[in-house]
This record gives sequence, structure tokens and C-alpha cells, in this order.
Amino acid sequence: MSAPAADAGKLVLALPKGRVMQASLQALRGGGLHLTAHGPGRALRHDAGDAIVIEMRNGDVPTYVELGVADAGIVGKDVLMEQNSQLAEPVDLGFAACRLSLIRPIGAAGTIERVATKYPRLTAAYLGRVGSGAEVVTLTGNVELACITGLSDAVVDVVQTGDTLRDNGLEEVDVIAHSSARFVVNRASLKLRSPVLRPLIEALRRLPGAR
Ligand code: PRP
Repeated sequence: MSAPAADAGKLVLALPKGRVMQASLQALRGGGLHLTAHGPGRALRHDAGDAIVIEMRNGDVPTYVELGVADAGIVGKDVLMEQNSQLAEPVDLGFAACRLSLIRPIGAAGTIERVATKYPRLTAAYLGRVGSGAEVVTLTGNVELACITGLSDAVVDVVQTGDTLRDNGLEEVDVIAHSSARFVVNRASLKLRSPVLRPLIEALRRLPGAR
């Protein structure tokens, strides 16, 4: 399988839809890429000038980069950890900083019997570490809902501003991991497109908050 002919010569970037998109574009521009704004339509793949941008759910970014459809991408460390990704992640961009936490209703006590999460692998590993035998239920939507409806007595999810917890009577009871946005690169692209990718990586590392 090879990239569409129209992509020849241009860097292909896999970027997550949603609240991280604007920060991602801003970082890449700060790294020296000239990237135009997305047009008014709903095209999922567009020529943005110095790169072809393909938009997807956060969780799909590692797959597109790993399989070489995209040369590079931006994705949360939480996703990389959950997927046990072996991708090269040369830059911690620093934004989208959040915690992956164990969350319960405020003041809840007693043994946790069921935990709902979008992070079943990390949750099972955490429960094993703390010696809990709780069942793990995998959901795809707003997992906090599981906790406030009684589907589960705890959830493992990301906390960024804390607004979702506050608005739903929930509290963090343990921090499992820290996350932020990472610039990830396909290993073959890193060699084949090194004249473009190496200076980009160096420039991204120099951005405020990045390392
Ligand atoms: C995440 C997460 C929480 C919320 C936490 O969902 O699942 O619901 O953000 O953020 P806060 O602490 O700032 O309130 P997101 O809105 O990113 O959507 P998702 O469910 O598609 O991941």
C-alpha cells in the first residue's frame, strides 16, 4: 500500500479533531510549517500548504502514523500509553496537559467493585498494582456518566480543567499518570523525510512549554 500520488513530496500529518486541533496547528506553525486554516467544509483530508492534514479521532492517530499513511502526527500521551505504542515520540509539546485519574463520587467510601473507563489496559494495570479485584467496564463516551448513574462506583478518565468533575459531584482519588500532547513520527519517514522532519523536530522542541 502506498500513499496517494497527490501526496508525493508533501508531509502527511495526522491530527486529532476537537479541542486539540487548533493548538496542534499553532505548534506546527511555530515549528516553521506554513499551514493554511481548514476551509468551511467537512473534508477530512486537505492540502494545508506545507503538509497534507488528515483529521481523525485522537485514538486513531497512532495507527495512521505507525502504518505510514501519515509521516507524523500529534496525539496525547494517554492514548500512546493505553495502546502501548512503540512509535517514536521525539517531542513533548506540553499542551493538552492532563492527568489520568481514578475518580469517585465526592465522599464515596467502601470497596470499588466496578470501574468504567476508556482506558481498560491502563486501568487493569493500575488495579493490579493497588491489589484491587474490581471489574473493568470499557465505555467509549463520557465515562463520568457511569459514576453518576451507578453503572460503576468509580471511573478512570482524564482530568484537564476539573470542570467535568466539579459539575458532576465527583473527585479525583488517585492520579495514575500524567499526559500531554506528543509529536509522533513514523520511523521510516524519519529517515526518508529527514531533511524536513529533523528541522521540524528541533524547532518544535524549542517552543515554549515543549521539550
Ligand atoms: C475528556 C474526558 C473528560 C473531560 C475532562 O473528554 O473524558 O470527560 O475531557 O476534562 P475537564 O477536566 O477539562 O472537564 P473530552 O471532552 O476530551 O471528550 P472525549 O470524551 O471525546 O475524550
